[in-house]
Amino acid sequence: MVEFFKHLGFQATVYQEKLLRDKSQFILARWSRQSGKSLAMAVAVLFNALSRRGFRAAIVAPSKRQSLKMVDKISRLLSRLGRDVLEGPPRKGRLAFRNGSVIEALPNNPDTVRGETLNVVVLDEFAYIEHDKELYDAIIFALSTTNGSFYGTSTPGSTDTLFYRMATNDEQFADFSRHHVSYKDALKPNGPIDPEFLEKIRRQYQTDPGRWKREMEADFADDEDAYLPLQLIESCVTEGPETFTKDDVISGRLARIGKFFVGSDLAPKIDLSAVAVAEKIGRDVYLVHETAFPPGTAFSVVTGYLNLLNQRLKTVSRIYIDQTGVGEFFVQDAYKSGLKNAQGIFLSLSKKQEIMDYFKRKMQDGHLHFPRDPELMNEMSAERFQLSKTGQLQFSHVSGTHDDRLWAFALAVYASRLDTPTYHPVAAVNTHPSPRNLMPQLPRSLWKI
Ligand SMILES: Nc1ncnc2c1ncn2[C@@H]1O[C@H](COP(=O)(O)OP(=O)(O)OP(=O)(O)O)[C@@H](O)[C@H]1O
Ligand SMILES: [Mg+2]
Repeated sequence: MVEFFKHLGFQATVYQEKLLRDKSQFILARWSRQSGKSLAMAVAVLFNALSRRGFRAAIVAPSKRQSLKMVDKISRLLSRLGRDVLEGPPRKGRLAFRNGSVIEALPNNPDTVRGETLNVVVLDEFAYIEHDKELYDAIIFALSTTNGSFYGTSTPGSTDTLFYRMATNDEQFADFSRHHVSYKDALKPNGPIDPEFLEKIRRQYQTDPGRWKREMEADFADDEDAYLPLQLIESCVTEGPETFTKDDVISGRLARIGKFFVGSDLAPKIDLSAVAVAEKIGRDVYLVHETAFPPGTAFSVVTGYLNLLNQRLKTVSRIYIDQTGVGEFFVQDAYKSGLKNAQGIFLSLSKKQEIMDYFKRKMQDGHLHFPRDPELMNEMSAERFQLSKTGQLQFSHVSGTHDDRLWAFALAVYASRLDTPTYHPVAAVNTHPSPRNLMPQLPRSLWKI
């Protein structure tokens, strides 16, 4: 397989070679960022597909987009071989070979996986895959008839993951072969990590040692002074009503009915201005839209955008605008421009605490939901707090990061608090509450699958 790696134009690193030579049935690779996890997996899967007849491999990643990208990577490797081995043209997310082998990107859906018979399953970025336990059960089922093998590769994430248990629990996962690679092992010339890239990341993570430890040293870390622990953030990533983009708003494609609340964090000069829209359904609040405007964007542009939201969404109940840096006049102006539901909020220390406390409580109660948006989630985990002398919490964020999206979202959530929930009758008799069956009357097209 190492020869094959070379054949494709790469020199395998020492740790990639070790992984590729590993004959264990269950393999866990806890490797640093950019160390070559995905490439090693791509090569391993491709080698098997070519050298065995009727070999079936599946790749699952945190999102379908990521698993499609991985299959695309394999397809590009294949073109380096210069041999025509595929049965017909490559399809998106599926490579069928003349020898009967198939490599396919599967969605993170236990039912789909359970229906397959597979020789190998790769979980890329395993620690960031939702419903990991259910998915793993289905994988074991799909591998059972072939006695197939399992690869899980990732940088460490929260300690509330199956990846964590597999990496640390020697009894339950005794048959796992574990590989650990820190950035130190993967620096040039021993690996693909560029010293320049490393320095950039080092500066970015300077005040976030937890993240550095997880992503670069590939070790698990507790983040003690983080206001929103990673585990809590992860627990709020849920499917919800369909999200929409800035383009949808501007092009006029968007027309939605519901109860919407908007938060806007305005930045006078250096930072971004951000706008978030939350939809409230019963007691649950879902982030359905978030967008940022580049530094220096005129406030009138943001006001215009808020007016558009008011037109497209029936009904935006309330808009909270952070007026701390821009002054009251902006909000008065916004009000005059037609934003009758806008209200300025001055973010004093105590107001900030009230808003963040409310936000965190909603998260802890399981009533706050957002899609897997790495940028937003990074902002959340980079939010720090410190007790001030007066006993109040002082919020800050890790240098090199923003927190505008987080504050826009928190303002939208705070705006939704005054609304008394109306219960859907079905919810009251439902024994398995989940966002989906709380609202059976919603068309399926509104849901992200
Ligand atoms: N043995 C190698 N020789 C040369 N380049 C390599 C090697 N392994 C990986 N690379 C290159 O290094 C870069 C990172 O590789 P890859 O995407 O596989 O890493 P990763 O660990 O999956 O990264 P991420 O943490 O971003 O998902 C890619 O450009 C890849 O082509
Ligand atoms: Mg990768």
